[in-house]
Amino acid sequence: MLGTGAVAGRFAEDLALVEGARLQAVASRAYARAEGFAARFRVPRAYESYERLVHDGEVDVVYVATPNDLHAEHCLIVIEAGKAVLCEKPFALNASEGRAIIECARRRGVFCMEAMWMRFSPALREVLELAREGAIGELRLLSAELGFSHKPDLCSRLFSRPGGGALLDLGVYPLSLAQALFGRPTRVASLATVHASGVDEQFGAVLEYPGGRQAIVAASVRSQLANAAAIHGTGGILQVAAPLYFPHRYRLVRVPTNRPMRRASRGAMARIRQQKWLRSLAEVRRLLRAGGVTRRAPGNGYASEAAEVVRCLRGGLLESPKMTLDDTLAVLESMDAIRQQWLQGS
Ligand SMILES: NC(=O)c1ccc[n+]([C@@H]2O[C@H](COP(=O)([O-])OP(=O)(O)OC[C@H]3O[C@@H](n4cnc5c(N)ncnc54)[C@H](OP(=O)(O)O)[C@@H]3O)[C@@H](O)[C@H]2O)c1
Repeated sequence: MLGTGAVAGRFAEDLALVEGARLQAVASRAYARAEGFAARFRVPRAYESYERLVHDGEVDVVYVATPNDLHAEHCLIVIEAGKAVLCEKPFALNASEGRAIIECARRRGVFCMEAMWMRFSPALREVLELAREGAIGELRLLSAELGFSHKPDLCSRLFSRPGGGALLDLGVYPLSLAQALFGRPTRVASLATVHASGVDEQFGAVLEYPGGRQAIVAASVRSQLANAAAIHGTGGILQVAAPLYFPHRYRLVRVPTNRPMRRASRGAMARIRQQKWLRSLAEVRRLLRAGGVTRRAPGNGYASEAAEVVRCLRGGLLESPKMTLDDTLAVLESMDAIRQQWLQGS
């Protein structure tokens, strides 16, 4: 465990639920913090520097849980020491940094994965499977958003550059979902509202994919958003309930493809049935009847991604087929393209 912050603690709790995983050592910039963390989570070894941790011969894989702007630096320390790495989201600040980490991992032949836990949510995995199997017909549009109402605090990582802002911290989730569903976009359009601190406090983007498919994504560090997603197809909608960062509920709504309305020719009942408001009431009832599906994950939600790391290491894999490095890089490239749009718009 490299870093002793909030997420590191939640992840440590979940490691206890993962067969084959053991929290062996923790490192902090300050020994007292490493020691405190070790006592809290019964970790055998505590280090006062990250360098010492990565040279511990009994450590197989290091989980990097430091601020966004330090991921590249810390991943490279781990990889250069010949250790596998699981790095918190966003994997890096931009595609160039991400590429450097990935190239280094491939050169050194070590396992590397972005800790994008959303992609390991059993509910979301089921949704993606249903979408790919054609449960809602031809896929046309994804809408996904993630945002929280934070007070602007220049000391918080959310509002300080270079790691803060809605895109890096939260936008990475809907973008990673879009990547999982549609792959690499061919075109991107975006606008952002920039806070006085220089970070994007809110942005919206439309991404286009081959065949005219689109993803509409938004994120905010100033406003509470619905934090849900919907995949729209020609035959229905897959609605993913909040929280998007690790969903555990979804609903499949099938809709018949529009047929031309039959003419009301037989009596009053037929005419009443043609009333718009009656039809929409029936639609609401039908939507309410279509029950949702719940798929709970153990612990805080981090056990599934940790189990995937164990599975990959045991199988000698250098990356996870469920969260590939190409996908991670493509998301970083989308983020670069989105930021480029803001510069063009200003
Ligand atoms: N997957 C998720 O659910 C999730 C949720 C929130 C955040 N995250 C991501 O996880 C990472 C950590 O987030 P967090 O909320 O846990 O942050 P945090 O509470 O601030 O912890 C970050 C840790 O990084 C270490 N660190 C090293 N250099 C630092 C520096 N210059 N300034 C501050 N801390 C430094 C610190 O540990 P020591 O001082 O002990 O070395 C600190 O405890 C971020 O990349 C964030 O985007 C993931």
